[in-house]
Amino acid sequence: MLSLQTSIVGRKVIYLREVESTNDLAKLLALHEDEGTVIVADRQTRGRGRIGRRWESPEGGVWMSVILRPPLVLEDLPKVVFMGAVAVVETLEKFGIPGKVKWPNDVLVEGRKIAGILAEGKAGTVVLGIGLNVNNPVPEGAISMKDVLGSNVPLVDVFRTLIARLDEAYSLLKERPASIVEKAKSRMILGVPVIVVGEDIEGIAEDIDEFGRLIVRKPSGEVVKVVYGDLSIRFA
Ligand code: ATP
Ligand code: BTN
Repeated sequence: MLSLQTSIVGRKVIYLREVESTNDLAKLLALHEDEGTVIVADRQTRGRGRIGRRWESPEGGVWMSVILRPPLVLEDLPKVVFMGAVAVVETLEKFGIPGKVKWPNDVLVEGRKIAGILAEGKAGTVVLGIGLNVNNPVPEGAISMKDVLGSNVPLVDVFRTLIARLDEAYSLLKERPASIVEKAKSRMILGVPVIVVGEDIEGIAEDIDEFGRLIVRKPSGEVVKVVYGDLSIRFA
């Protein structure tokens, strides 16, 4: 019914009306499911962001996770996050919405968060979770595709597009991992003042390096590389 013509991502789709968290279920299913299996739900009751933060997931959005077995080391996890972010930005583009990546794992439209990416890896398997606000109500300060376009967006079309873009981005990640970083960089909000929360680092977010670290230039000229992990930036 979905007629997904993809090579890996979406070879199998497990759809649920409701689940606690598609990432948690995908991590369990990863023990016996093949690479490319997607878990998608209408709503999540315990959707998670990074560091256990709550991710609001009422009906109307795309809440999905894909099981991947990329030939990469754990230090390459940021590249999987970027692969998700690139696929989301390209999906938004298809619907006429210009989105930007906010390092490390958010996609913003009009300066507000439209999507979040959560990649969790263990022993060769990575679960890549994506939450994209489509027609659902959003928390204050966030935004949905419906808010931008002014009317409901066909959810299945958004899902199908996202799967196709993820499949392409995954091929690229495996063939030329560095090019995923380059693609994410070209869609990232850079050249602006930022504060690295809790780290006493302030400066201009200049660039990202080949490992996906954010390069911040302090007013003194000193350059700091911020490692993807639990850190967040705020635009100053
Ligand atoms: P960072 O900018 O580093 O990603 P963050 O504050 O956005 O930091 P995350 O852990 O990435 O934190 O994302 C979780 C946060 O996203 C929650 O704390 C909440 O503020 C916000 N959030 C929750 N649900 C949604 C949603 N459906 N759409 C947009 N934002 C949401
Ligand atoms: C973030 O911004 O911190 C990441 C949010 C990730 C949300 C998605 S929704 C599908 C998947 N299941 C979860 O519990 N979280 C991710």
